[in-house]
Amino acid sequence: MTDATSFRWWQQGIIYQIYPRSFCDTNADGVGDLPGILKKLDYLKWLGVHAVWISPVYPSPMADFGYDISDYTNIDSVFGTLQDFDRLLDAAHDRGIKVIVDLVPNHTSHLHPWFVSSRSSRRSPKRNWYIWRDPGPDGGPPNNWLSNFGGSAWTFDALTGQYYYHAYLAAQPDLNWRHKDVQEAMHNVMRFWLDRGVDGFRVDVIWHLVKDDRFRDNPPNRAYKPGEWPYKKLLATYTTDRPEVHDIIAGMRAVIDEYEDRLMIGEIYLPIERLVTYYGVAGDGCHLPFNFQLISISWNGLAIGSTIDAYEAALPPHGWPNWVLGNHDKSRIATRLGAKQARVAAMLLLTLRGTPTLYYGDELGMEDAAIPPEMLKDPWERNVPGLGLGRDPVRTPMQWNDSPHAGFSQVSPWLPVASDYRQRNVAGAQTDPYSLLSLYRALIGLRQTEPALNVGTFRRLEATTEVFSYIRQAGPRCFLIALNLSGKPAKVTYAESSIRGIICLSTCLDRDEERFDKQIELRPDEGIIGLLTN
Ligand code: GLC
Repeated sequence: MTDATSFRWWQQGIIYQIYPRSFCDTNADGVGDLPGILKKLDYLKWLGVHAVWISPVYPSPMADFGYDISDYTNIDSVFGTLQDFDRLLDAAHDRGIKVIVDLVPNHTSHLHPWFVSSRSSRRSPKRNWYIWRDPGPDGGPPNNWLSNFGGSAWTFDALTGQYYYHAYLAAQPDLNWRHKDVQEAMHNVMRFWLDRGVDGFRVDVIWHLVKDDRFRDNPPNRAYKPGEWPYKKLLATYTTDRPEVHDIIAGMRAVIDEYEDRLMIGEIYLPIERLVTYYGVAGDGCHLPFNFQLISISWNGLAIGSTIDAYEAALPPHGWPNWVLGNHDKSRIATRLGAKQARVAAMLLLTLRGTPTLYYGDELGMEDAAIPPEMLKDPWERNVPGLGLGRDPVRTPMQWNDSPHAGFSQVSPWLPVASDYRQRNVAGAQTDPYSLLSLYRALIGLRQTEPALNVGTFRRLEATTEVFSYIRQAGPRCFLIALNLSGKPAKVTYAESSIRGIICLSTCLDRDEERFDKQIELRPDEGIIGLLTN
């Protein structure tokens, strides 16, 4: 029997990611802000989300749009003030919405006072807070490590004659997490926000935190093909997922556990068997190591089935699953799969076992927007152009209504509004009973009222390339989910005689109360949820 009350909020709720620059601008500077998020809390409440994760809002020179932090315990004026943050936190809590903030502990901005001091002299007390090495024998970088954003991960600093390591931009030097003072400083940053009342952290690139202490060269990646992301030329063996990272994470988790009922999510791009190690051994890892499998998966029933099997089988006994369809770094779901399958994907995300994370605008079916070259912002695209790595297309302003600038701002926004905003926006979709937004709301509503769909057990049925089906159950309530992943009609026949009941939701939102008995006919690109009645 699944007793919904024995689950924590982050097991039962839906997380909604806000990219604050692009959510809602209240002070007419073209960039979203904290009062903008506050203004839209009622929308989020209406949608039914239980927690928001807000990408970084800390003071930053914005070389990587907030993922380069120059002060961990303040708010950048472009987003507002600490008072705005407190007001937002209170208003969210008043509505029963939890607030998760981004923690970026792997690197700071090069303008952070810690790095300014570190680079000022080899004798600076902060020197070893970062990763400094002498030049290699030829005067070049100390080893072959590559930056995610192109080129060597080492930048030479003439003042002190050494190189510093940066997994991302030269403007994002990596902290040295082997140094106790760095650990303590970051723990205090966490306490600063936890004391203010935040409900948890999404920890940026957590699998990067520790690098090889012998600075060995990364091995070549034999599977690399020309034209791919250059970072992939090497395997990140010595720069990521080092065994020592788990002690560091345990230290962070201990800080989280000083407070009641807070959450630690880790951003981790690793294969399933490595990903699940980030749950830790027993309560000393991340509560939720983000599971990005649905972002890269081939969209067919066999691949989805084997991925879910592998993930469920790999989870440690204390590991609660989670699923993510999109984020601020990846092509949008509606672009990856098309508008029709985006509806099926919504049903999958919101009926799988495990906490779902939605990315703002995906509930509208927002697509990757075309960005004119002169408006390009993402440093990744600038450094490694032409390979489709840039993330501006997935960060365009939220489309609230059909007024100029989509109701996002009074002025031209920092990134252009996607050209479809007049047809695709919250105001229009809220009044259209068949919109994707209406589907998301119905799915969230059903998930929140049916423990079977939320925290119940998961058992999958035989899959084909076209159709993927499974059963969710809690106590006597048992649901069939059948998803047609193809653009052709599909007739499914189940071997089990218990598979009969009543459809309670179709992705087309027009098929309630229809009965089925061991057989279901799915229209092209249709998914259904059926209550089994025995
Ligand atoms: C994470 C963030 C990404 C950022 C990078 C460097 O992957 O999600 O947006 O650019 O870390 O901080």
